[in-house]
Amino acid sequence: MKKLLTLILCLCTFGVTTASPQNSPKDKFVSKLLKQMTLDEKIGQLAQCTYRGNFTGPDGGNLPKEEYVKQGKIGSMLNVIGIKDIRRYQELALQSRLRIPLIFGLDVIHGYRTGFPLPLAEAASFDLEMIEEAARYNALESAADGLNWVFAPMVDISWDARWGRVMEGAGEDPYYGSRVAEARIRGLQGSNLADTATVMACVKHFAGYGAPIAGKEYNSVDMSLGQFANFYMPPYQAAIQAGAATVMSAFNDFNNIPCTANDFLLNQLLRKKWSFKGFVVSDYNSVEELVNHRYASDKKDAAAKALNAGLDMEMVSTCYLTYLKELIQEGKVKESVLDNAVRRILEKKYELGLFEDPFRYCNPARSARVLNSPEVRNASLRMAERSIVLLENKGSVLPLAPQIKSVALIGGLTKSQWDMAGAWAAMTDRNKIVTLHDALQQKGLAVNYADGYDLKTNRMSGLQEAIQAANASDIIIVAIGEKANQSGEKTSKVNISLPEEQQKLVAELKKTGKPVIVLVMCGRPVIFNEAREHADAVLCTWWLGSEAGNAIYNVLWGKYNPSAKLPMTFPAHVGQIPIHYQQKSTGRPTSLKQAYTASYIDSSTEPAYYFGHGLSYTTFGYSNLNVKPGKTPGIHALVSVKVTNQGLYAGEEVVQLYVQDKTASVTRPIKELKGIRKIKLEAGESQTVTFSITDEALGFYDNDMNYKVEPGDFIFMVGGSSNNLQQITFALKEHNSNKK
Ligand code: NOJ
Repeated sequence: MKKLLTLILCLCTFGVTTASPQNSPKDKFVSKLLKQMTLDEKIGQLAQCTYRGNFTGPDGGNLPKEEYVKQGKIGSMLNVIGIKDIRRYQELALQSRLRIPLIFGLDVIHGYRTGFPLPLAEAASFDLEMIEEAARYNALESAADGLNWVFAPMVDISWDARWGRVMEGAGEDPYYGSRVAEARIRGLQGSNLADTATVMACVKHFAGYGAPIAGKEYNSVDMSLGQFANFYMPPYQAAIQAGAATVMSAFNDFNNIPCTANDFLLNQLLRKKWSFKGFVVSDYNSVEELVNHRYASDKKDAAAKALNAGLDMEMVSTCYLTYLKELIQEGKVKESVLDNAVRRILEKKYELGLFEDPFRYCNPARSARVLNSPEVRNASLRMAERSIVLLENKGSVLPLAPQIKSVALIGGLTKSQWDMAGAWAAMTDRNKIVTLHDALQQKGLAVNYADGYDLKTNRMSGLQEAIQAANASDIIIVAIGEKANQSGEKTSKVNISLPEEQQKLVAELKKTGKPVIVLVMCGRPVIFNEAREHADAVLCTWWLGSEAGNAIYNVLWGKYNPSAKLPMTFPAHVGQIPIHYQQKSTGRPTSLKQAYTASYIDSSTEPAYYFGHGLSYTTFGYSNLNVKPGKTPGIHALVSVKVTNQGLYAGEEVVQLYVQDKTASVTRPIKELKGIRKIKLEAGESQTVTFSITDEALGFYDNDMNYKVEPGDFIFMVGGSSNNLQQITFALKEHNSNKK
């Protein structure tokens, strides 16, 4: 048993740099404005109302929006789309007594007018630079059309693909999820919120929204603090450290208190410990829903509980607008609490440059130049190519040879512009989406198309036509999957297997003797064991946005060598869920062969595809794994490995480092990702990749959320997938760990 070494690395030392120094011009401006505001005007700043469409709950009733905006009773609007309407509302806001401009927010989840791959698909790229660039283009298009705030990124970790909303996150891993969160914040916000190419980001949903019990949307969440701190918390914290301007509270409860009124999450963790200086917005209608949670007796009680817990802006419901004045007059909410919330919102308006020029985001010439421009579409194409995961490639059937001129293209999903956009793509110009069918035709291929199955019922339909198309072609490409709107918010499922008849179709097509390439189109991990068995190659193409068809073509024909890896485990059976690679050791080993072990009697515990799995048209060899002590303060060890491209094509590899703490004072996972490096190697080329091992790779949170690094043996594992790793052991001596 090793001795507990180091300290408690207090969370509170994670400072962020958005603090407004007292007496800065911003501080003076906001303080002066606050002093002039009436109680009603202050309360107004905390209200956010929705305009039209895109409702994800009630529409907010009959609020006289225009009148309220003119009276300074609204601080922000969501779902106002396009420069014309945004300008109109901003003009109304400037008619208010103090001329305080509005902030305009929208769910820009994966692209605005140019569709980008689903966030989960982008995460599969393991290409942080490209993810940042994609976010930058999302911001550019949004800001060019008048917006200054997007409700992204969603950084919720999830181990449960029944929860359809996994499509909006970065998957199951807290380390990688944190890196993606930072990349997206950097991409959206840049270094200056007043820059009209950037927008404010909103980290959501704080906290634990990705762990609803039984995968049921909006359900309760129940986890220990140790579990939260180690597996769910890191991406929120990373996003705050990266400077996220705003945070959205989650619909669920956390530790038996709804997140919208959770003092521990909002006041203690976010503000006190992480020094977050931005503002917190509720999720849609969730202040009022405190009554449904039976945490508040009525809307007035809900308003008091939410504001006192640190919730600044109320989205859509009107508890603040209706009751805060009374609550303050009755002394149930202190005016200083209100003032702090208002200050935080005004500070962001100042940073956005709205007081200087309320119309700075409303420039029609810029909008015409940017929206759907070739530059943005090119970024979407590059992101899409990098998001496609090659799951199987039996007999190296892919890439397709240039001699292949005729293709049997089966499945309505290959033609569906609507689906290619993916879920939550309200503003994407769907008529500008290049489907796979379009792309193949544009490349001059003979496309023999057949539906194969009915897109609505998923029953096999026109099997004979599909077989004829196959017989008349060199190869068969068949798309199976979910419709795009079957993932996203409100799409929890008890069964994530693909429809039986879609899978039977693959088996039937295989009987023709032609190579069968299966494209799995989905927004979450899905199960397709039968199709998989009959496929020569399987590509997970998710939903890829505006350039989907071109990206898939480029990968199939080897113009882009696939390099993505799964950011979420694909289970083999629904009953394995929740499933993730960071399993812990239990008292019993995992083995189907022995009784009384941590396994199932009717199935293997193996998933269909592991976290981090993804093939390339080339192969990468790993050798010379080595570990040596670090020489610089804070670096405990250097782990290096030589990676060699052993195949015939240039390709990119995601080199993954996992760590196991051999013995610890709390139970720890068998392996945890602690480093990634995406490298490009020409055929035959080698590169040595070195990972620096710091506290962050070795430590963990104990049950009281104290961060610890304990001396003793650690196993470092390196490879190209979480199930295919080489390992080496390292002994960490007692040390004075640096405070974070
Ligand atoms: C509800 C969703 O949970 C949230 O992510 C979104 O930003 C809001 N609706 C606004 O549409």
